[in-house]
Amino acid sequence: MAACSGDKEKTIEKPIVMNNKDIHSFAEPENAVIHHIDLDLTVNFENKTISGTAILSIENKTGTSQLYLDTRDLTINGITLDDGEKTAYSILDPVEYLGSKLTVAIKPETKKVNITYSTSPSAAALQWLDPSQTADGKHPFLFTQSQAILARTWIPLQDSPGIKFTYNATIKCPPALMALMSAENDTTLHSDGIYKFKMPQRISSYLMALSVGDLRFKSLGDNCGVFAEPSMIEKSAWEFADLKKMITSAEELYGPYAWGRYDVLVLPPSFPFGGMENPRITFATPTIIAGDRSLVALVAHELAHSWSGNLVTNATWNDFWLNEGFTVYFETRIMEKIYGKDYADMLTLLSLGELKETVHAMGDTSRDTHLYLDLAGRDPDEGVSDIAYEKGRFFLTGIEIAIGREKWDAFVNKYFSTFAFQSMNTKNFLEYLEKELIKGDEKLRKQINANAWVYGPGLPPNCPEIKSTELEKAGKAAADFKTGTPAKSLVTTGWTTHHWVYFLRNLNDSLDNKKMQELDTAFGFTNSGNSEIQCEWYQHAIASRYEVAYPAMEKFLIQVGRRKFLKPLYSELAKTPEGLEMARAIYKKARPGYHAVATQTIDGILGK
Ligand code: BES
Ligand code: ZN
Repeated sequence: MAACSGDKEKTIEKPIVMNNKDIHSFAEPENAVIHHIDLDLTVNFENKTISGTAILSIENKTGTSQLYLDTRDLTINGITLDDGEKTAYSILDPVEYLGSKLTVAIKPETKKVNITYSTSPSAAALQWLDPSQTADGKHPFLFTQSQAILARTWIPLQDSPGIKFTYNATIKCPPALMALMSAENDTTLHSDGIYKFKMPQRISSYLMALSVGDLRFKSLGDNCGVFAEPSMIEKSAWEFADLKKMITSAEELYGPYAWGRYDVLVLPPSFPFGGMENPRITFATPTIIAGDRSLVALVAHELAHSWSGNLVTNATWNDFWLNEGFTVYFETRIMEKIYGKDYADMLTLLSLGELKETVHAMGDTSRDTHLYLDLAGRDPDEGVSDIAYEKGRFFLTGIEIAIGREKWDAFVNKYFSTFAFQSMNTKNFLEYLEKELIKGDEKLRKQINANAWVYGPGLPPNCPEIKSTELEKAGKAAADFKTGTPAKSLVTTGWTTHHWVYFLRNLNDSLDNKKMQELDTAFGFTNSGNSEIQCEWYQHAIASRYEVAYPAMEKFLIQVGRRKFLKPLYSELAKTPEGLEMARAIYKKARPGYHAVATQTIDGILGK
């Protein structure tokens, strides 16, 4: 096993004293905590608001006279306790990212807090789409994105991942549309537009989710299926044909699936993420419908969150790597089980390359490259990087290598079952690792090197190195092209999306127009329908000023709102004055179609 980053010794900070205090929430759950929420909400597309009541069932643990809730951009119309007795409340001025602290006067015996409220048309969790922004163009669409701290923009609650509650909901929407939530629901259209949901298992607020649109369902097995707009349903069902196999494989690895059904909802292209692990119903970008099933690892990822994240949840956003690092690790194991080690190795090597680049860009002494983050005073969105995902994953892979797969899998199984429906912080995880796996073995402890990974910067010396025989082929083709082999003579038979991405990443950054044209003629990159390939190719087009690709790139940027693609493309454009001008012109047209999560990032890049 070689090292990722040389054997350079890094200074390791002393582990910080940690607790579950969530710096991104005004809640004080140690005094009074929500156990259950009943929602009765009406979705109004005309004025782009959701309004109604949230009944919070609370436990007043200390007899406190005040319940603190998180809200952001909500209009509170009135609050009563239990059977309807009016109570006093106050809302503080908004704090950046965190929103407004809502204080409700309660009594020691208070069981229910009934809040009548309405959302703002600019609520950051909600994206209201005009019919023209949907695949079928006939009906409006609404979806929510609550992670990390946006649930408070559509529900007044204790918006902290360390707090879990059950919920029921009644949603009223226009009769032609279907409503879906992260809860039990049937899969049929209700002609009265009234939908009832039940989530009997405890979940964290960031997993509250709702979608309303013209949707169809297609079953893919006894406990799984796909929802999509009518024109997307067949394509989506074909793409996700292995869904049942994924669930079975995941269960074989790390224990029973705890949530009943597992469905995937394919959203319109403005969805800012690849996927979101809303319990029972993953929300997914349509950019993974590649027509060749090559991008389904994303579904394995969101499914894996049903254990790492939805069952055992990061206690605060500083512990985000516990959600994502475990999930990337688990995702890769599912992919390996179904499609083989060679396939999984391709994905892993691509990710390792991205991780190294991220560490390089952040600086290998940067505090933000520690697994345990310090997000005090910042939006938790700033913690979303390859560090939590990939450094997290390689830490766990390193443990697997040190201890052997069998013992490691037994540990992970026990970890998920022991802490199911609970939250976990970094310190407790490391203690559990010590107790269950290291067991005082000094040599093993050194080999695992946990403190360096978790509380130290960059990539520790025991970072696993990955070889991929498949990607070597693509690397060789790139080298051949660089040394003069014509594009049309390169051997590319049987290549997947991943080969192409690796090939493109291994070309020189900037190529002359003749070379770009040659590649384009041979492989049709500019008009590729594959989002991953398009994103790589358009970066080359910008760096090489290959203007032939610009109209297709502009179309892509206007149509697709997935931040993972927008960020590198706008950043590449912003590197030169002409590019920046072009980026701003495209962004002007595209911005109204993006979700708030994406505009926040791109505003930052283009200096708005
Ligand atoms: N839970 C995340 C998405 C997320 C993270 C939303 C933090 C808001 C804040 C989801 O599981 C995820 O990781 N999605 C990835 C896909 C994955 C295959 C890496 C994405 O959207 O790109
Ligand atoms: Zn994830």
